[in-house]
Amino acid sequence: MRKRLVAGNWKMNTDLNDGFKLLKEILHNVREPELKDCDVHIYAPFTHLKIFHNSLNGSGITLGAQNCHHKEGGAYTGEVSAQMLTSVPVESVLVGHSERRAYCGETNEILAEKVTTALANGLNVIYCYGETLEERESDQHFDVVKSQIEEGTAHLTEEQWAKVTLAYEPVWAIGTGKTASAEQAQEIHAYSRKVLEGISSASVAQNTRILYGGSVKPNNAGELFSMEDIDGGLIGGAALNAESFAGIITA
Ligand code: 13P
Repeated sequence: MRKRLVAGNWKMNTDLNDGFKLLKEILHNVREPELKDCDVHIYAPFTHLKIFHNSLNGSGITLGAQNCHHKEGGAYTGEVSAQMLTSVPVESVLVGHSERRAYCGETNEILAEKVTTALANGLNVIYCYGETLEERESDQHFDVVKSQIEEGTAHLTEEQWAKVTLAYEPVWAIGTGKTASAEQAQEIHAYSRKVLEGISSASVAQNTRILYGGSVKPNNAGELFSMEDIDGGLIGGAALNAESFAGIITA
C-alpha cells in the first residue's frame, strides 16, 4: 500500500515574513488525523528553511528544499549543496522540476548526478518529469517521459528507490489552470510504472509513489487522487493558500 503524499512547492514566492505567516496558517488548517492517511511536505525557499524547521518540529509535516547542486561542494558561487540542506536539517529535495530544466539548463545527465548526491547526503528526493505541450501534440509524450525517468534514475538501486518519489508534471498544466484530465494523468502514471519495472523491478514499480502536479486545486484533487496509479499531488499555486492546501490534503 502506498501512502498518499501532498507536497506544496512554494517556488520563488513569499518573503520570510509572509512565508512564516502562511506556514502558521497551514499549521492551523492541517489537522492531525489527516496526517495519518496522507504525508504532507512543504518545499520552501532556502531563506525560510531554518526557521521553518523550528516551527514544524513535532507537527508531522516534512520540510524540503526546492533544489540543491549536483556537486558535493566547492567553487560554485551562489549554489547550495545537499550537505548544507542536511545540516538545516531538511529531509527532502525536489529534483528536475520543469522550471529548472527550462530556465537553468538542467539536463537528465545533471539530474542523475543530483539525485545521487542528494541521496548520498541522506535526503529523500522527489524527481519531477513531464512533457511540453508541443511534445504532447506531436505525440512524443510517452518517449519524453520514458527518457526523463530512465536517464535521471536508471542507476538507482532498490534500496535507493525507497527514498525516491516521482512527480509527473506536464509542463502545459503548470500554472496554467489547465489540468490534465484524470484519465490523461492516469495513463502516464501507469506507463511510468512500466518504465520503472524496466529499469528496476516489479516491486519498485509497485511501491514507488507517483504524484501528479499541474493546476491541482481542491475541486479537482479528489478525482485525480482517486485514480489507481496517482498517489497524491505536487502543488504550486494552491499551496500558497492555507485553506486550498488543506482542502487538497482532505481530498
Ligand atoms: P501549479 O499547481 O501552480 O500548476 O504548479 C505545479 C507545480 O509546478 C508544482 O511543482
